[in-house]
Amino acid sequence: MCGIVGYIGEKPAIDFLIDGLRKLEYRGYDSAGVAVLDHRGTQLVKSVGKLKNLQEKVEGNVNGGMVGIGHTRWATHGRPSDANAHPHSDCTGNIVVVHNGIIENFLELKEGLLQRGHRFESETDTEVIAHLLEELYQGDIEQAVYVLLNKLQGSFALAILARQEPDKIIAVRQDSPLIVGLGDGENYLASDIPALLQHTRRIFILNDGEVAILEKESVRVTDRDARPVKKEVFAVKWDPVAAEKGGYEHFMLKEIYEQPKAFRDTLTGRISPDSTRVTLDEVHLTVDQIRAIRKVAIVACGTAYHAGLVAKNLMEKWVRLPVEVDVASEFRYRDPLVDPETLVVVISQSGETADTLAALREGKRRGARVVAVTNVVGSSVAREADDVIYTWAGPEIAVASTKAYTTQLIALSLLAAYLAQVRGTLEKPVLSRLLAELKTLPAKAEAVLAQEDRIRSLAGRLVKHEDVFFIGRGLDFAVALEGQLKLKEISYIHAEALAAGELKHGTLALITKGVPVIALATQESVFEKTVSNIREVKARDAFV
Ligand code: M6R
Repeated sequence: MCGIVGYIGEKPAIDFLIDGLRKLEYRGYDSAGVAVLDHRGTQLVKSVGKLKNLQEKVEGNVNGGMVGIGHTRWATHGRPSDANAHPHSDCTGNIVVVHNGIIENFLELKEGLLQRGHRFESETDTEVIAHLLEELYQGDIEQAVYVLLNKLQGSFALAILARQEPDKIIAVRQDSPLIVGLGDGENYLASDIPALLQHTRRIFILNDGEVAILEKESVRVTDRDARPVKKEVFAVKWDPVAAEKGGYEHFMLKEIYEQPKAFRDTLTGRISPDSTRVTLDEVHLTVDQIRAIRKVAIVACGTAYHAGLVAKNLMEKWVRLPVEVDVASEFRYRDPLVDPETLVVVISQSGETADTLAALREGKRRGARVVAVTNVVGSSVAREADDVIYTWAGPEIAVASTKAYTTQLIALSLLAAYLAQVRGTLEKPVLSRLLAELKTLPAKAEAVLAQEDRIRSLAGRLVKHEDVFFIGRGLDFAVALEGQLKLKEISYIHAEALAAGELKHGTLALITKGVPVIALATQESVFEKTVSNIREVKARDAFV
């Protein structure tokens, strides 16, 4: 949830730092800070609470230094406070660091540093990095960072400044995203793309174990052993205005309303005009490779995992292949039955989720071909997968996925239809009807959104409750799981989704007078069954 920004160029760094941090506010934070460097030294300003607190402290107190780093923090080690806010510095104040992620061996490192006389000002894991660099620094910050990397365990994205070398920012990525933006006579660093969009569209994403040395006129990238790495620069096409609220009360609402467009974009060019064929240009699997698949393993986290459960339903039905769906954080620890005849499908909006990336690598290690469904061009998942199907949802700022989820469902439907087309498992008229139906989705989304008033009044009835239940069968159950996650995440109301037929096996005990039950009954084949489950809860006076 933390955010990192960095600037080196010809303008006062503070302007970009504050603007960039504001663009990352959507990720949630409890404190923020900046460090700006000029020939006189480093100025460090930090504040608990909202960015406006930091901005008030900054005004008149930060020099016009043209190199700087900034951070929004979401507490992990130590409560939210000015002292625990980043950047953190060493004992001399010469080295400052901002950090996303967790240093797993920080206690051990801190103990050693304390014994060697270092003084700590915060309770964070991050501060050990500044003190370690103080010990390792012998006139070359880059060299000190390479040695540092062998001492740290855990996940980290770092931005580092050294007072003695005011012409560079060192950035490091290990399991936590970091993006470099290229300008003319200036360069940028950020943990997420929206922070950069107003300033540059030319970006590249650092890979795990890579170090970037940002200077005014150039950016060099190396691996952790200082060997040069060549990076491919991408042009981000996202409209910067699309990454702003655009008149909506909040980003989530905006993104809900962006669904019809996102659906159109995700479908464009992928279904033939007569709806008889799917084309997935980015999938390079040959006909023989597709016919050789014996099993599909879908891996993802959170919302993307729920999209995977929907895909399981579709693929088993349309392609007649066994499909397993795993939560990515479990996948590699359960010795999965994955081999070269397995097609692994990873789903990730950001393309940077560490567990999903690890699952992708595990799939490849076991010889499987990996198809990724992702929203971010050039993300780690996109680069490491064998084939990519992009969801053209545009930037997801809200964190609570909406259009990302629904476009994942479209991309996965297209993949399932494509596999069925190649393997000949659906009769042509059936495939054609499905494809024609997919094309109607943008208009159908518009029709749902037109019911905002009804939805708002229903929400008004639910908001006073502490527990909400979702029920459904088959596909509806998979969708119900996403419904309960979203309700918990954004309203803090406890919610639970159940396969409707499971109610009678215990949970019915919690269905009492007035308890809200949201029943999904969209499939003809199980409609009557679900209706009988609705009767069960109605008999207990639930509000359905
Ligand atoms: O970027 P990813 O799709 O890999 O993220 C995985 C989950 O963290 C994500 O889907 C999360 O569950 C949703 N944003 C919640 O709304």
